[in-house]
Amino acid sequence: MFENIPSAPRDAILGLTEAFRNDSRSEKINLSVGVYQDDSGQTPVLEVVREAEKRLAEESTGKGYLPISGSPEYAQRVQHLLLGTDHEAVQAGRIATFQTPGGTGALRVAADFLHTHLPQATVWLSDPTWANHPNIFAAARVPTKTYAYYDPQTHGLAIDRMLESIGKIPAGDIILLHACCHNPTGIDPTPDQWQAIVAAVRKQGLLPLLDFAYQGFAEGIEEDATSLRRFSQDGAELIVCSSFSKNFGLYCERVGALSVLCKTAENSQAVQSQVKRTIRTNYSNPPRHGAEIVNWVLGNEARGNEARGNEARGNEARGDGATGDNTWRARWEQELGQMRERIGNMRQLLVRKLHERGVREDYSFMIGQRGMFSYTGLSRAQVDQLREQHAVYIVGSGRINVAGINTANVDRLAAAIGEVVGT
Ligand code: LMR
Repeated sequence: MFENIPSAPRDAILGLTEAFRNDSRSEKINLSVGVYQDDSGQTPVLEVVREAEKRLAEESTGKGYLPISGSPEYAQRVQHLLLGTDHEAVQAGRIATFQTPGGTGALRVAADFLHTHLPQATVWLSDPTWANHPNIFAAARVPTKTYAYYDPQTHGLAIDRMLESIGKIPAGDIILLHACCHNPTGIDPTPDQWQAIVAAVRKQGLLPLLDFAYQGFAEGIEEDATSLRRFSQDGAELIVCSSFSKNFGLYCERVGALSVLCKTAENSQAVQSQVKRTIRTNYSNPPRHGAEIVNWVLGNEARGNEARGNEARGNEARGDGATGDNTWRARWEQELGQMRERIGNMRQLLVRKLHERGVREDYSFMIGQRGMFSYTGLSRAQVDQLREQHAVYIVGSGRINVAGINTANVDRLAAAIGEVVGT
């Protein structure tokens, strides 16, 4: 039965980590998968997560199944993070949120839902986009096409070409946009450019699908939701696939959400019933642990008061853009801010090191890119050379995970890049 099945190609991103693990060279550097690392090269468990886990172990609510849509409290907290606490869509009950196994799970549920209920629609992806996007929609038999996004000349957003592309997409199709920290380029539209994009998408009659995997990694929780909040105004319909993998560091716990904004509460209930069918025939109901951690940290005022011992730190964090609605949340935002800041510092450091080495290209554009990734402009051949000759693993498109750079590996990285690019 199985002897004629050919091998599949290695996954463009996770496959590199497999290859990295099998590489015996001690000086190897993994800048492929988008996982945060601290300056010692470790992926830390956030302190608030560790503490929440201790409390949860003491107060375990059992191991029974969650509802098909997941925890209702979790859904509410997701909605508040996405839209704010007093958004008209939340109050009108026109948004349905489902707890999903990670952001990828949210995308796959969305794709299955679209295949069934909007069978004529094509999903338009940015060129370039996350390597897994086309695969997810293909697996759900949803056709995809691309719209212009990146300008290799300026290493920036090709806004004019992007708007022109959007203007040609047929009404009723779906446009997938990265709400912030575009993966793989790290290039986001400015607020004015978002305004123009929202207007073009509306004029064209398209359904926006926002992939929101990096909330808090560009500027902050509230700031990074700007694009989404613009899209969600005036009773608009919208799909959001969000994730706590990165901003809570809960990668392996698979904690994500699919949110569907409908025109009315009635529509939302019908959509909810359909999405539940999709989920039930796929993974039945979502895993509990990661969502419980998020629930705990984003939980109520009472829990904030319990954490009084950490009040000093919490107060500090409030001054740092956090909402101050409870101490746990403020501490989370503080830790998130530290990750964001370290990535920013590593951008600066790498650019400086490359400059000091007299590397031929000017890499200062990397400083303005946002989130974990940087689209370096390195060619496929240069990427292969970096891996084969220097044990530096980056994604084939030239994307590097800046969060994998640290003060101990940056010199070797700059030297390796210098060698493949030339000085
Ligand atoms: C990435 O782009 O590296 C992350 O989103 C992880 C993944 O699943 O690919």
